[in-house]
Amino acid sequence: MKYYLTTPIYYVNAAPHIGHAYTTIAADALKRFKQMQGRRAVLTTGSDEHGINVERAAERMGQAPGEFVAVIAKEFKEQWEKLGLGVDRFMRTSDPRHHKLVAELFERCKKNGYVYKGSYTGQYCIHDNLYVNEAKPGDPCPECGRPTETVTEENYFFKLSAFQDRLLRLYEEQPEFIQPDARRNEVIAFVKQGLNDLSITRTNIKWGIPVPGEEKHVFYVWFDALMTYMSAVAGEDLWPADLHLIGKEIVRFHAIYWPAFLMAAEWPLPKRVFAHGWLLFQEDKMSKSKGNIVRATPIQEVMGVDALRYFLLREIVFGQDGNFSYDALVGRYNSDLANGLGNFTSRTLSMIGQYRGGKAPGGAAGVNPEIEQAAAKTIESFMSSWERFDFSRALEAVWAFISMLDKFIVEQAPWNIVKNKDAESQARLDAALYTAAEALRIVTALLAPAMPQSAEKIWALLGMKTPLGEVRLDRLRWGQLEPGQQVHRPQPVFPRIDAQPAIEKMRELEARETARQAALLGKSAPPAAAAPAGDKIGVEEFAKVDLRVGEVRSAERVKGADKLLHLKVDIGEAQPRTIVAGIAEAYAPEQLIGRRVVIVANLQPRKLRGIESNGMIVAAVAEGGKPVLVGFHEETLVGSKLR
Ligand code: ME8
Ligand code: MG
Repeated sequence: MKYYLTTPIYYVNAAPHIGHAYTTIAADALKRFKQMQGRRAVLTTGSDEHGINVERAAERMGQAPGEFVAVIAKEFKEQWEKLGLGVDRFMRTSDPRHHKLVAELFERCKKNGYVYKGSYTGQYCIHDNLYVNEAKPGDPCPECGRPTETVTEENYFFKLSAFQDRLLRLYEEQPEFIQPDARRNEVIAFVKQGLNDLSITRTNIKWGIPVPGEEKHVFYVWFDALMTYMSAVAGEDLWPADLHLIGKEIVRFHAIYWPAFLMAAEWPLPKRVFAHGWLLFQEDKMSKSKGNIVRATPIQEVMGVDALRYFLLREIVFGQDGNFSYDALVGRYNSDLANGLGNFTSRTLSMIGQYRGGKAPGGAAGVNPEIEQAAAKTIESFMSSWERFDFSRALEAVWAFISMLDKFIVEQAPWNIVKNKDAESQARLDAALYTAAEALRIVTALLAPAMPQSAEKIWALLGMKTPLGEVRLDRLRWGQLEPGQQVHRPQPVFPRIDAQPAIEKMRELEARETARQAALLGKSAPPAAAAPAGDKIGVEEFAKVDLRVGEVRSAERVKGADKLLHLKVDIGEAQPRTIVAGIAEAYAPEQLIGRRVVIVANLQPRKLRGIESNGMIVAAVAEGGKPVLVGFHEETLVGSKLR
């Protein structure tokens, strides 16, 4: 039976970083898991190449859009190859096969009466590709806080409003359609407020898929992009997708627009959308390296790709936000991989080598029933957690088993039993060694989806004849190790890593990688930072801006706005200022408390999501539009002015 899963197709206005790797690695691990259940699993990813952002970036580079996107699409493709991810189809939105299908979607929606021509005047956020119907000229985008642009266009509209009831019924009848529950509830609440029709073509850009019979129009990027999920597997019997794996900021497009488009076209709906949380970065790490973004390949080069995979899947609860830090990465590696699994592996192999000439003892006679039961429980809890996308729980269960095995070996003390040559002692030694080897086989099979390379290594050391790729996890049980099997001498699978030099090395590689990619993107001067050329201002004009040092007193997320934080910042006045800032994507609220920041103190108040913001927090715009807060290296007094 097939299992078709997808990652988002990534925008080509940023080079691949660890956030993109996070989704793609999770997708790869899921694919492997499904394969080990005997499913024909197919994974699609790709690149989202159209739109005004790309048109402008290419222009900045003095390139044609097609030239520009080809370079970045290649970066993504190569990134997944380098990381060893099992991407089966890489679909680019500039691919003519894709264009054909988008046109077909449009025709079918039109034929069924869900498309009409109208005129739209309103606000548009070019960063999020979002029409902000409720905004007035000059208003910020409710998602990211950046200014919206006014657009007036004759457009084709999609009758999204006609789908409110059908969508609500879908969420009701198929609760697993959008997961986790927190996201599902948000989506339901949003749809219940009522849906506005959606403009699905644009006339103010050229870089897009032309609308059939309408020279001036190109399709709205989301009408275009979502269709890659189908165009990537056109002509194969893979649609509907079993799973769209996405980050939580694009839930609305996947759980509302996408099923509505498909309903309108009378095409089958995907079975499930799972939205994971954000990887957040600790600010001090980021500012030291001057806005550097963490990348996957430097980690791979220094620690191996499985270290990264393990960390991402184990450390962060899938579905929730989580912090990335190098210290935590190396810490987990040393404790769980070098010590935990690595030690258990080499201990088991070396005992069998020393006491039994490398032959795994046969026969399950005398196996410790507690361990046997624990193995069964571990398999069961691993499988059920993984099925719920709870990778960290699944892995936790394996490590709980490993620590039980460690204890078992210490209790059995084979190094003592071996001294007694009587038959009973020898049988006990056999049983202990068999138990350890069989447990290691089970652990290795379970870890294969998360850490394929390391699992292969251990599998080979165990001398297993069945290729790991052919092992069925749904048929995994105690007692399948062949008696008399020849195991190999231990080799270090996870050598211990010395944190400081490793971290320095990763940072260095990352800076190099960032510089290389920045050159490709022409990102030395990001668009947001570029002042209009020739427009110099006098110092008196600058002096009008009241910049002050502040200290964050409290920080919380703004309900219903994924990018906004509600801050209270002390700037030396009687009361802390309330400031709503579009930085939630880069900073967790608790990270900010007590932090010194720079505030524009004399801005006119403005309302964001019903909260009046009295000032603005100053941040650099790093790659991908991520904010990096301004800070100080020396002590500064709260309330000090900046000049
Ligand atoms: O949204 N933490 O593309 P995009 C976790 N082209 N995941 C992250 C992340 C982070 N810090 N940063 C990126 C688009 N991601 C559209 C999608 S789909 C038809 C079109 C991952 O380049 C996560 O999967 O902005 C997120 O949803 C995706 O990259 C956004 O990639
Ligand atoms: Mg994005």
